[in-house]
Amino acid sequence: MLDIKFIKAKQLKQKPAKGQPLGFGKIFTDYMFTMKYTEGKGWHDPVIEPYHNIELSPAAMVFHYGQEMFEGLKAYKGADGKVFLFRPDMNAKRANRSNDRLCIPNIPVEDFVQAVSELVKVEKDWIPEDEGTSLYIRPFVIATDDFLGVAPSKTYLFMVILSPSGAYYESGLAPVGIWIEDEYVRAVKGGTGFAKTGGNYASSLIAQVKAHDEGFSQVLWLDGVERKYIEEVGAMNIFFKIDGKVITPAINGSILPGVTRDSVINLVKSWGITVEERKISVEELLEAQHSGKLEEVFGTGTAAVISPVGKLRYMDEVMTINDGSIGKLSQKIYDTITGIQWGKIDDPFGWRVEL
Ligand code: COI
Repeated sequence: MLDIKFIKAKQLKQKPAKGQPLGFGKIFTDYMFTMKYTEGKGWHDPVIEPYHNIELSPAAMVFHYGQEMFEGLKAYKGADGKVFLFRPDMNAKRANRSNDRLCIPNIPVEDFVQAVSELVKVEKDWIPEDEGTSLYIRPFVIATDDFLGVAPSKTYLFMVILSPSGAYYESGLAPVGIWIEDEYVRAVKGGTGFAKTGGNYASSLIAQVKAHDEGFSQVLWLDGVERKYIEEVGAMNIFFKIDGKVITPAINGSILPGVTRDSVINLVKSWGITVEERKISVEELLEAQHSGKLEEVFGTGTAAVISPVGKLRYMDEVMTINDGSIGKLSQKIYDTITGIQWGKIDDPFGWRVEL
C-alpha cells in the first residue's frame, strides 16, 4: 500500500459549467499524481500535488527514444453522487504488459489502482455529470535519465492526470467514417502493437492525416505482413455483425487488448449471441457487404466507448453500413455498457468499482 503525500493547491481552477461542451482531453483538473523510480530503490515518493508543468533535462530519454507507456480509463458519477471506476485492475495489468515490452519496471497492480482511486477521490467534484461525460484518467510512465545512449533508462516518472471529457468523436454517437489503410501499417507480431505506447500512435498519424483529408474520422489498420486481415482502428478495437454473428479480430500480438473490447465480448455472449474472435480478411468483409450480410460495424474503446461506423472505405469502394445509422445491437451494447459504468443498471459481471 502506497503512503501517498498530499500537497494542497494554493488556488483551485474554475470547473467547467454544467452543459459546457468539454471535448476530449482538453481540460485538466487541479491535481495530479506522481511517483518516481530509481534503479536500486524502486518506486518512491508517491504524491498527489497541484497540476503543474514538469521540468526535465532536454536529454531525458523519453524525448529521444520514446521509452514510455500510457493507459486510459474513466471515472463516472452516478445519479446519487456515487463515483465509479470500470475494471481498473484490467488497466493496471495491461500497463505492466506494456511496461514489460518497453523495459520499464512494473508498477504493482494494487499501487496503480490506489494511485488512480485516491486522485479521483480528491478530484471527485471534477467528474462531469452531463449525459455522456466522464472524467478521463490518463496514467503514464516516462523514462527520465539524461543520457543519449540507446538503453533502458534507470529512472522513471509515473504520473496520473485527469481530464473531464465528453465524446471522443465530435460527432458523439453518430456513425463515423473509417478509412481502411492499404499503404501504411501499424504493427507486426513481435513489435509493440499490443502495448500502449506513444510510438504506435506517432507512426499512425500519417495515415490518419490522409484519412482526415479524405473526409474520414479514423484509420482501420490491416495486418503488417499480408495487408489482408483486419486489425484495429486508431483509437479503438473493431467489431462486425455479419449474418447475425459478432466477429472481432483475435488478439494476436499486434492488436491492443482493449478493456471495452473484452467487456463487449462477455456482454454479447451473455445475450446468447455467437461471438467469434478470429482472423477476418478485408475480402470477407467486402463479400459480406456485397451479399447484404454485413449488418453492423462498431468500434470499442475507453475514450470512444461504442462508436458505430457508418462508412468504410477500401481502395475504390466506399461501403455504407446499415444506411449510415447506428445499428440495434450497437445501440443496445452502448446503453448496457454505459448503464453499468454510470451505475444506472445492475452489474452482473462485477466490473463497476465504487470509490
Ligand atoms: C483510450 O481509449 O483510452 C485510449 O487510450 C485511446 C486514445 C488513443 C485516445
